[in-house]
Amino acid sequence: MNIPFNRSSLRGRELEYIFQTITIGQIAGDQTFSKKCHALLEQIFGAKRALVTTSCTHALELSALLLDVQPGDEVIVPSFTFVSTANAFALRGAKIIFADIRPDTLNLDERQLESLITSRTKAVVPMHYAGVGCEMDVIGRIADAHGLAVVEDNAHGMFGKFRGRWLGTFGCMATLSFHETKNITCGEGGALLINDERLIERAEIIREKGTNRSQFFRGQVDKYSWVGLGSSYVMSDVLAAFLFAQLEVWPAIQSHRQHIWNYYDRHLRDWAQSKGIGCPVVPPHCDQSYHMYYLLMPSLEARQALISFLKSRGILSVFHYVPLHQSPFGQRLGGRKGSCPVSEEKSDRLVRLPFYNSLNQEDQDQIIAAVQQFQI
Ligand SMILES: Cc1ncc(COP(=O)(O)O)c(C=O)c1O
Repeated sequence: MNIPFNRSSLRGRELEYIFQTITIGQIAGDQTFSKKCHALLEQIFGAKRALVTTSCTHALELSALLLDVQPGDEVIVPSFTFVSTANAFALRGAKIIFADIRPDTLNLDERQLESLITSRTKAVVPMHYAGVGCEMDVIGRIADAHGLAVVEDNAHGMFGKFRGRWLGTFGCMATLSFHETKNITCGEGGALLINDERLIERAEIIREKGTNRSQFFRGQVDKYSWVGLGSSYVMSDVLAAFLFAQLEVWPAIQSHRQHIWNYYDRHLRDWAQSKGIGCPVVPPHCDQSYHMYYLLMPSLEARQALISFLKSRGILSVFHYVPLHQSPFGQRLGGRKGSCPVSEEKSDRLVRLPFYNSLNQEDQDQIIAAVQQFQI
């Protein structure tokens, strides 16, 4: 491909910091650069505790362990999301309840939430699609009224805001992804933002293989041992060094991504509307994270034809998310075709255009020209 869907790039002092971790002999986890990442994330988002993890998937698994999700508990997730949003809770034996999405933002439809709650419901996991906030005031009110935990899957929404407040600060916990396709990356990585301080101590234990090693390193206990269930979710400092180099220049990264998003929008929105093609909807009370730009083609056939057409021009565009309730495993969990009609329809029609930190205007012009040459 001349223009890939995603391309990784250095945005600052990544290599210098990685070299430092090796020369000072700190390549395991929770050392200088992990601590710098924790401090910066806590400072930006005001989280009570931020913990970098091996992935967002693992941060979600950590949240499920922290909530002590048990077989038979029900967890409500949007059907239109990445598999990890559901899998983390299914792994603990939870029954996954698939919610449909809003037709405008493609986020969990908060108007349907109440009807999905039963006496077994333990948690709801809103995912901020494309970094546009879910209706967190309504979701929070309903969750509070029913005593449910809210875990925000904020893999897309880092630096987005809802009614002026950072995404990731509404739930008792939120997860971030630093996978290579995300705004800020270290290849593979994630973080758990903890907003309820009662969860901190156990989070540290679960993340450190079920041991109190974090307390030991802080000098709070004289030896560490097995104190509970846990796994290995600590990020290597080699990756934390890469991550910190990106995090410390986040305003520059975000401002460039804003430029890329606005450029697509300025050149494609009117054209799209004239052809019956949809563009992202960002309500006025949401500040998006500039994670992706997508088009909603009139049909599945038109979407597939556009992807093929762009491919023939050396441009890789991609569809996004087979709705989980329609996936082979989702069906085994009870998902039925027709039960989340908006997810099904949008998923058939959606195409994501290339979007990465080093995307330049020349390449963007080429993408825009190719899209506009496509005959529907
Ligand atoms: C919404 C959502 N949640 C979770 C994940 C999992 O992230 P990771 O690859 O860091 O495990 C992704 C990955 O793209 C995602 O899109």
